[in-house]
Amino acid sequence: SPRRFFVGGNWKMNGDKKSLGDLINTLNTAQLNSETEVVCGAPAIYLDFARSNLDARIGVAAQNCYKVPKGAFTGEISPAMIKDCGVEWVILGHSERRHVFGESDELIGQKVAHALESGLGVIACIGEKLDEREAGITEKVVFEQTQAIADNVKDWSQVVLAYEPVWAIGTGKTASPQQAQEVHDKLRQWMKANVSEEVADSVRIIYGGSVTGANCKELGSQPDVDGFLVGGASLKPEFVDIINARA
Ligand code: G3H
Repeated sequence: SPRRFFVGGNWKMNGDKKSLGDLINTLNTAQLNSETEVVCGAPAIYLDFARSNLDARIGVAAQNCYKVPKGAFTGEISPAMIKDCGVEWVILGHSERRHVFGESDELIGQKVAHALESGLGVIACIGEKLDEREAGITEKVVFEQTQAIADNVKDWSQVVLAYEPVWAIGTGKTASPQQAQEVHDKLRQWMKANVSEEVADSVRIIYGGSVTGANCKELGSQPDVDGFLVGGASLKPEFVDIINARA
């Protein structure tokens, strides 16, 4: 596959300078498969710390940003500020932004557009809730979420699509390799029909939801699984094994 394997860690609202510094040391000194692209999603207040301390071969992502460059938006950060800290990526549309903080497809689309215009790479997240899967509307849900993102993307080379079934996030209930592959394949077919064949072939579609050192190899060997977005396990030395899933 021409798609470079991509492993993102999403630290969420965890850690402090001591524990994240220890994790950064572990990553900096580890043997990492150089064919895999690695990005760590740091809390906003630690973006500068993460970028200053992580080895240059490891990317850094913000976990959110706002949709305009500056202004009276207390508590928000802009892509311009993220870039000013030397950070290259932003995670947008994460399940927790959607379901804990009520972000709509429309707002996520606006954020995607502005982040890309500002020169950030975007890890754009989608995924169905348990009741939606049980109701048999997984495809409908993830296609609608993807459409709202796609409407705001001109250059897909700067986008990684993260499929994260909400029922698998932080629950220990990983999607089976077959379940992940099925949705990734459907998403690629959707991209072919609604964006282009070239983008469908080249866009990285990564899986998130209870990925561990123990399950990453089988998940990562699925033909349409191009990497992972890892929460809990990205805070542990085990993240190195996940990065090297395809080694
Ligand atoms: O962004 C990462 C996902 O929310 C997965 O989190 O690996 O803790 O299930 P998890």
